[in-house]
Amino acid sequence: MKPETRELRLGVLGSGKGSNYLVIQQSIQAHRLDATVAVVVSDHSDSGILQHARNYNVPAIALPQSRFRTKLEPEIEQELVSILQRHQVDLVVLAGYMRVIKEPMLQAFHGRIVNIHPSLLPAFKGLEAWRQALTAGAQKTGCTVHYVTAGVDDGPILGQREVPILKDDTPETLHARIQQAEHVLYPEVLQSLTSKILPR
Ligand code: GRF
Repeated sequence: MKPETRELRLGVLGSGKGSNYLVIQQSIQAHRLDATVAVVVSDHSDSGILQHARNYNVPAIALPQSRFRTKLEPEIEQELVSILQRHQVDLVVLAGYMRVIKEPMLQAFHGRIVNIHPSLLPAFKGLEAWRQALTAGAQKTGCTVHYVTAGVDDGPILGQREVPILKDDTPETLHARIQQAEHVLYPEVLQSLTSKILPR
């Protein structure tokens, strides 16, 4: 018999300052997100996201250093799968994780990995999407939460939020405005997933 449903257990992966992780954690505390963060994993031992996790007494794990910039060695990705499984993660939440997810993760967490990207996908995939939007002379951009599949920034879209591009914008001001939108969108989409993704 299956046990009573429990809260969705999130495994958050990030490489940087962790502002999205922070709002996820704050949303949980404010009862706007019915989930729990089981573990936070980063590819940088000194990243802000790991520090935030420690402040919340959430297990904060640094993966071994990779030789590549955006790739993971297969054995490190396997280690990542083991960490997430050991912490009984139901949903993997990429929050500024700068490495491409491949087969071991995609298989182990099929349909259970989401990402936030700083553009209105399918426009401006890839790195520094805010800069791409500015260079292209777009009038608006935004952010997108999507399922992660084998294509980079390519899976089914779960939610989007628009952000205007102002005439004085620099890459920095635009990125900051997009991040404000991300901080609203990500917790909302994650909450909507709590009724769709069952705990394992
Ligand atoms: C966000 O802008 C997100 O869209 C991109 O990486 C950034 C992560 O920021 N994928 P933070 O570490 O959550 O502050």
